[in-house]
Amino acid sequence: MKKIIFFFAISLLLINCKTTPEPEKITGLIAEKAMVVSAKQEASKIGAAILQKGGNAYDAMVATHFALAVVYPVAGNIGGGGFMVYRDKDGTTGTLDFREKAPITAHKDMYLDENGDVIENKSTLGAHAVAIPGSVAGVFAVYEKFGSLPFKDLIQPSIDLARNGYVVTKNEAEDLNGAADRFKKVNNYETVFGKEWKEGDILKQEELAKTLERIRDFGKDGFYKGETADFLVNYVTELGGIISHEDLEKYEAVWRNPITFNFKGYKITSMDLPASGGICLAQILKSIEPYDLSKIAHNSTEYIQLLTEAERRSYADRAHYLGDIDFVKVPVDSLTDTNYINKRMRSFSWDKATPSSEVSQGKILGYESDETTHYSIVDQFGNAVSVTTTLNTGYGSKVVVKGAGFILNNEMDDFSVKAGVPNVYGLVGSKANEIASEKRMLSSMAPTIVEKDGKLKMVIGTPGGSTIITSVLQNILNVTEYNMGMQESVDKARFHHQWLPDYITLEPNGFNADTKNKLESLGYTIFEKNSLIIGRVDAILVLPDGKLEGGADKRGDDAAVGF
Ligand code: DON
Repeated sequence: MKKIIFFFAISLLLINCKTTPEPEKITGLIAEKAMVVSAKQEASKIGAAILQKGGNAYDAMVATHFALAVVYPVAGNIGGGGFMVYRDKDGTTGTLDFREKAPITAHKDMYLDENGDVIENKSTLGAHAVAIPGSVAGVFAVYEKFGSLPFKDLIQPSIDLARNGYVVTKNEAEDLNGAADRFKKVNNYETVFGKEWKEGDILKQEELAKTLERIRDFGKDGFYKGETADFLVNYVTELGGIISHEDLEKYEAVWRNPITFNFKGYKITSMDLPASGGICLAQILKSIEPYDLSKIAHNSTEYIQLLTEAERRSYADRAHYLGDIDFVKVPVDSLTDTNYINKRMRSFSWDKATPSSEVSQGKILGYESDETTHYSIVDQFGNAVSVTTTLNTGYGSKVVVKGAGFILNNEMDDFSVKAGVPNVYGLVGSKANEIASEKRMLSSMAPTIVEKDGKLKMVIGTPGGSTIITSVLQNILNVTEYNMGMQESVDKARFHHQWLPDYITLEPNGFNADTKNKLESLGYTIFEKNSLIIGRVDAILVLPDGKLEGGADKRGDDAAVGF
């Protein structure tokens, strides 16, 4: 019997060597000049049509953002917030923070009962979970600084889609049906979403169309003032929430400096606080920079070990140090300093997992304690835009503003509602991220742009809560260290570690038994689950010949459109 198996194995090997052609390389959509990659075909098409009309990447950002608010209600939004990283055609980079803010009357203990315990669901479901939306202010800040086409041309396709309806996909019908009970529980009227959906149904949103028309006609004031603001404040108040007209009128998006660092000859530009994405990416990439990845196979035990240990240490720092930079002092330079990071990695051993219980934040001298979606755009002029935007969990708070037809976020849960108590993504936090009036909650979002030799190389980002950072990280490594194309990279199985809870999340069916057994024998706990939180990466790669390759995540309905 042994002989037969041996013969069979040798024959297979020979057949493989001689006759099996190289497996065909997976490639995404290739475009000559310009591309939009987003969570939905309709939104990518609307963005690409704006580029085709001569609009720039910023015009396309505006159009794509509104389109996603219509055709991707699970995360696309006008009732949420987000971050944009851009690289202009002249090479300058910058970021826009349109993250939600805590209401003026918010306070540290607002989600705790009289015993100081967290009140279940209060920061995630219903009117109390809602933070002041930033998306519409964000879109206008971008348009005012960079827009070139008339604003009404950018928003009209989304108004039409909301009014005439769009076709519900299978994934969407499942998502909507999964949330139907919560829509019914939270709202005191029958919303357009809270019913039984099936693939192929048409979803029309007349009230949302009217809200978008007010934004078209009155600009930012069409959302933060007047009728839309009245609808929002009245309904949130009716449901017991605390958002006021003053909250809406005071909201401003903020232009901030990006976090920029080098990794093995690549220049990486990402989002700084209140998003933790850029700082954590810098920490993790710098932690692994001294290792020669050409000697470590992709997704092997050693690869997972190395990234996990770097991630564990970075997320421990995140939990302790990071919060809204306008409110707390964060030692960003020290946290991303190469010497500090090398020191943190000294306790890493190839022979044994470092338990998270033995890792806490690193020591910084002189420091005093005190369902998201991503789209990437490159235009025919060379501008690049990377935007991650969210309502937080799928359909946010599930509050659908009566009379105005849009969903409100539940971003308040991204604060540390109580020190050490995990949020929906299992992330813990401390003082730096506690709730305060008008403060921005810490985010994991990481819209990122990669350059090589002064030229644009990649535009990337993803949803996925705490896994955003590690998904962006792995895709950067896939392309820069493992020479993958964009779609090939996006398709690859992903894994994640975030210090606490102390386990490695593996995407199901992506890792072989041998790798998992070896990891377990080294003391790692493996958690394999089918979950949204392994992200939906939508990215664009500039190929050596200057063409663009899209990477649209097959885990969702994501699509690349270009020309
Ligand atoms: O800002 C954050 O980190 C979270 N609110 C992101 C949520 C998210 O990615 C949900 N998507 N799956």
